[in-house]
Amino acid sequence: MDFSRRDFLGAMALATLRIGASGETKFASIQPPANPIAAAEDEDYWAMVRESFEFSPDLVMFNHAGLSPTPKAVRLREVELAARANTGPSYVVWRTQRAALKEIRQKVADLLDTPAEQTALMMNATHGLQTIISGLKMQPGDEILTTSQDYPRTFSAMEQRERREGIRSRIIPISAFAEPDEIITKIVAALTERTKLVVVCRITYISGLIFPIQRLQAELSRRKIPLFVDGAHSLGVEDDRLSTLGVPLYCSCFHKWLNGPLGTGVLTVRPNLIPEIWPLQPADQSLDPFIEKFENVGSEPHARLLSLATAIDFHHHIGWEAKASRLEYLRRRWVAEAQEIPGVTVLGGADQKTTRLVGLIQVKGKSHLEVIRSFWEKARIHTTSMQPPEFTATRISPNIFTSPAEIDLLIRTLRSIAQEA
Ligand SMILES: Cc1ncc(COP(=O)(O)O)c(C=O)c1O
Repeated sequence: MDFSRRDFLGAMALATLRIGASGETKFASIQPPANPIAAAEDEDYWAMVRESFEFSPDLVMFNHAGLSPTPKAVRLREVELAARANTGPSYVVWRTQRAALKEIRQKVADLLDTPAEQTALMMNATHGLQTIISGLKMQPGDEILTTSQDYPRTFSAMEQRERREGIRSRIIPISAFAEPDEIITKIVAALTERTKLVVVCRITYISGLIFPIQRLQAELSRRKIPLFVDGAHSLGVEDDRLSTLGVPLYCSCFHKWLNGPLGTGVLTVRPNLIPEIWPLQPADQSLDPFIEKFENVGSEPHARLLSLATAIDFHHHIGWEAKASRLEYLRRRWVAEAQEIPGVTVLGGADQKTTRLVGLIQVKGKSHLEVIRSFWEKARIHTTSMQPPEFTATRISPNIFTSPAEIDLLIRTLRSIAQEA
């Protein structure tokens, strides 16, 4: 057989990807839910899903919107790939693992239903946000527009650009529980002929507010203003197909709702915009029209991104609809109980149609920091605080595998905190 060096390297790359499939068997044996919506309440099913993860016995996580665990199969795969890299780094990392990233790019592109030539692999969502906000070519006096519900690193990237180059940073105030019409009206009213980029979350980190992306995209494409969507809280739990969303710029991370390995993300850019964006780290001029210029970060461990393949398989095995309906079921369940506790307020109320994933609570007579500390001291429950300009609150975010026992513990502890106040 005529086996060229290129074929050999390609075959090695494939082998690198396939070895370790043993780790996948555990979740592969779980039957995917027949009816994704009805599966939300099937605790036996989610207990089996839970078995695919590893948990510390002395931590109860209710901050999955911050970071989520990856299944054990993914972690093992990552460890295996890192160990293999260490056996001959310059050969294994540069020649085989780097080549294997091509398949990961394709897998991520397929997940987002967008061409691989428009898909850059990143280490997180922040890197994608900063790449576009810092890199899109503009003139002093041009404007970047976002909303008060967007991510603080979006603000800091915009503000740095303002300090450095005089590109105006405009943050439009929007309520954490705004209706879609209000969002559209406020953003459209704020556009000027100097607006060169609009950046918004698909789902916000503060209250889980859902932005009407397709409507906004229609408004902006008419005005030829690119829309950049931060999908950190939608990838994995929404239908984030770019062919449907239609937006020219999108970034996300995999280490939240897709349960990918820590340190993995994606940026997608439409071909006409690629030459219009400077990469965050300099790239050769010959790469100007190519998506690869955004990945030109020098030597790095590839185990994270390569093990993402297993995480994406896990995700497809369950399906985003089953995950979304499970998360909504859990949210409604704990919110309904929390609302009945005297002294506890759940912001936005129980029937929140414009928000997802997370809930915000306040306890009468206690600051949000005291509530977080009490959750931790009483039951080792980890939560976090949200402090937009209009309120402070404790954010609660379960995950698909959160058990009824954990929800019960959350509610019992909250009752005890409220009684002390
Ligand atoms: C809305 C939003 N965008 C972006 C990010 C940044 O994500 P990463 O940690 O992957 O950089 C976060 C993180 O919490 C977020 O909530």
